Parts: sequence; structure tokens; C-alpha cells
Amino acid sequence: MINIAIIGGTGVYDPRILSNIGEESVDTPFGGVKFLVGEYANKKIAFIPRHGSKHSIPPHLINYRANIWAMKHIGVRNILATTAVGSLNLAMKPGHFVVVDQFLDFTKGRVSSFYEGGQRGVVHVDVTDPYCPTLRQVVVTAAAAADISIHASGVYVCTEGPRFETPAEIRMFAKLGGDLVGMTNVPEVVLAREAEMCYSTVSMVTNFAAGISSQPLTHGEVLDTMRENSEKIKRLIMKTIEL
Ligand code: HPA
Repeated sequence: MINIAIIGGTGVYDPRILSNIGEESVDTPFGGVKFLVGEYANKKIAFIPRHGSKHSIPPHLINYRANIWAMKHIGVRNILATTAVGSLNLAMKPGHFVVVDQFLDFTKGRVSSFYEGGQRGVVHVDVTDPYCPTLRQVVVTAAAAADISIHASGVYVCTEGPRFETPAEIRMFAKLGGDLVGMTNVPEVVLAREAEMCYSTVSMVTNFAAGISSQPLTHGEVLDTMRENSEKIKRLIMKTIEL
């Protein structure tokens, strides 16, 4: 019985918080998924690096359906995902963590549902609470216990990528109520809802979004901030698993 799956975003590839690590794979209707299984705090944990173990899969080509299907298939009920994000909100600064509670979907070319008619039928899933309130609360409590400051809510704008945004897009997203911008949370969170799993994301702000920062944005900047804060995100994940 797997207690929780971690989907590690940019900068979170290191499974070494786990012991007795083994590789497993599951065939799904959408393709095969390889993942790690290990133990921490007497719990069995699955770990998927979202972009592949060497960051070789760009956001728009991630096999979101296969990943979520595989986790459901092995009995996972709770998923804690991490995401690197740019910030539109001056109170959410590089290095800060945010437990997002809503999203705005600006993706374009992704299959975002398990339900495409035919045998599986047509389903309109409720996303009033897209992110699991119970797991979100556990993350907020874990952050307090680990002495890590965290924003307990925030609106995640998901773009198609893989390019970063224009300053005009960022101004529009800010007017629409977005706080953070990233490229991966949709459809991941939606598929987890369809699969009736409890899914929460911890977003790590790696940069101010285009136009808010006066500097051109680079992937190197994103990776540098992730690296500087990797110890903190590891501690937060460990504390969340412990609780
Ligand atoms: N935009 C989109 N995705 C991101 C960003 C950003 O500024 N930073 C990290 N992921």
C-alpha cells in the first residue's frame, strides 16, 4: 500500500530522502510509466520526477494522463506535487512557498481529461476545490512545524509553454487575479480530481514573472533559485509525509 506519491517538479529530482528505493513501472492505456518506490517515516512513498530524471521532458509533452493513471493503479490516494513558478504578486517573492488553492487555465494543446466519450463516457468533474483542502492544510501545518514560512493560498496561472510569457500576458494574468505562473499544474490537478485522488501542490517561487522583473528571464535563474532552496523544499516534503 503506497501512502503518498510525490510528483517532483523542476529542481526536485533527488529521491534520497527515501530508503529501500526500487524502480517500478506500470503500463497504462496512455503509455508506460517508470517511477521509484521507497520508504520514509514508516510510510511507502512513490516518486515521479515530472520532467524525467534528467529534466528531458518539456511541460507541454509530459504524459500527465499516464502519470496519474499509474499512481491510481498502484493504490495512491494522496499526491503531493511540487512546481517551480514565476510570481505576479509582489508579496510572493523568489524563495517563497505557496500552497495554491485555485488555477486559471491558459493551456492550449493538451489532452486534459480521462473522459473522451466512447466507453469511458462524458464526465464533467467538479473543480470548486481543485486542490485537496485536507492535504493543503497538512502542508501548511508541516511548514509551521518545520519553521518554513508559506503562503496558504494563491491562484496558479497555467500557460502552455515551453516559452516564458510576454510582459503583456503577465499584466493580463495579474488583472484576472493570478498570483503565480507555471506550465505544469493543468491538467495534472484536473486528472487527479477525475481520478478522485487528494492532490496538492507546493509552488516554489523561483522568479518574478516577465515584465515584473526588469531582467530577461532564463531557465538558469529558475534552476538557481530551486537549488538555493532545495534543502527547504526537502524538509517541507519530509515533514508533510511525517504528519
Ligand atoms: N513562467 C512560467 N513558468 C515558470 C516561471 C515563469 O516565470 N518560472 C518558473 N516556471
